[in-house]
Formats: sequence, structure tokens, C-alpha cells
Amino acid sequence: MSIGVVIPAAGQGSRMNSQTNKQYLGLADRPVLAHTIALFSDNPQIKEIIVVVRQEEIKYCREKVINKYFNNKKIRIIAGGETRRESVFAGLRVFSPAINYVIIHDGARPILPVSVVERVILTVKENDAVSVGVKPKNTIKRVDGKGYVLETLDRGELVSIQTPQAFSRELIMKAHQEVASDLKVTDDAALVEFLGYQVKIISGSEENIKITTPEDMFIAESILENRRR
Ligand code: CTP
Ligand code: MG
Repeated sequence: MSIGVVIPAAGQGSRMNSQTNKQYLGLADRPVLAHTIALFSDNPQIKEIIVVVRQEEIKYCREKVINKYFNNKKIRIIAGGETRRESVFAGLRVFSPAINYVIIHDGARPILPVSVVERVILTVKENDAVSVGVKPKNTIKRVDGKGYVLETLDRGELVSIQTPQAFSRELIMKAHQEVASDLKVTDDAALVEFLGYQVKIISGSEENIKITTPEDMFIAESILENRRR
């Protein structure tokens, strides 16, 4: 098993309302993105890590994250695209031929427990498409454009999806290539579903938050602090 990881980190971070892109904000002792890369960099089954960043941030990322925190030939930086889907696809295209499984994990999810990575790797050997998710804690309703309820969904059937997601390389390449590029998707598993393939969901972690708005930084800090104790 030869695994490649794509870390999409080429977003604008607009909901963070910060001068510095959220990927480079300091979290405990290092930038957010350095935590995310470290989830994978020491795993011997992982042979290549492609970090996808905005073109104008490549130099900054190389100096302030990769060269500063990693001494690791398997990490590469490339430029992303306008959408998350384009950024991921850019990453998928540059793996060497030896890679046969791919993990995709948001740059903005720096505090994923490493045990989840291990479970994702075990599961993708049996299922060619895997995503992690957690049970929603709130009741979820569908509403119309005016704010009136259309339907209350059965919580027992719902999962709130996170990354990592993992796939056989062949399947995820096919999905990115064949699903129409105007189909709006917010995760990679949706592309595979669209082609009619089964996606296996395994449990992620409540700690695996996506750094999105300013308060997420405080939550992440306190989870890390709690782990240190
Ligand atoms: N991402 C990416 N390329 C894009 C858009 C998003 O690589 N064109 C990445 C982000 O950097 C992030 C992940 O996809 O790690 C999840 O996206 P999100 O949390 O929405 O981040 P942003 O798009 O940066 O934030 P916002 O939507 O608030 O602007
Ligand atoms: Mg976004």
C-alpha cells in the first residue's frame, strides 16, 4: 500500500476575518498548517504529501511552514485553484505512479486525532471510498427560502461529514475527471457518490474541527491544551 495525501489549503479564509490567511495563524507553537502536515509526515505508509496553496502564498508556505518544521523529502507544495474541488484535483494530478491510495484532508483541520488516520487507512483497503463523520448533536430541519420548515430529518440517519476522506487513486481520479465540473460539491466523496459508487462512513472525532471562524481558534487551543495535560 503506497499512500499519497493531498492537503487543500488554497482557500481565502474569508469567514476568519483575519489579515493573515487562517492556514498560517499560530496555534499553540506552530502555524495551523504545520499541525495538519504533521498528522501525516511521520507515517511510513504515506509516501507523498502534496500541500496545495494559493499561488501567491507558495513562497511563504515553503519558508514559514515546510522548511521551518519539516525535514522531509516527501512534502511538495503546488498552486491551487478557484474552488476546493480544483485545488484537490491539482494535487491528485501530481502523484508519482507508485501511489495507489489517496487521503484528502483539509488544511484547516489541524487537530484531527492520529488514531482516525489509522482507521481511515485500514478501512480504505476494504472499501475504495471512505469518509469520516460524526452524528449531528442538533436536530436538523429542511427549510424553504422564507424560513419555513419543509421537513424534520431523522437524526438517526444523518452524519456530519469531516475529512479525512480516502479513496483508491483510480476511483478518485475517475470521479474528478468524469463528474461535470459545474456540479457544486463541498467534499470529494460526493463526486464518487455521483458516479454511483458506495462510500463507507466511519466515525471521526468531535475534536476534528475545521478552523472556519475566529472562535474556532480558541476551541482548538483549548483542545490542544487539554491533550497536553
Ligand atoms: N480550499 C482550497 N482551495 C480553494 C478553497 C478552499 O484548497 N479554492 C481549502 C481551504 O484552504 C480549506 C479547505 O479547502 O483548508 C476547506 O475550505 P474552507 O474551510 O471553506 O476554507 P476557506 O475556503 O479558506 O474559507 P472561507 O470559505 O471562509 O473563505
Ligand atoms: Mg470555503
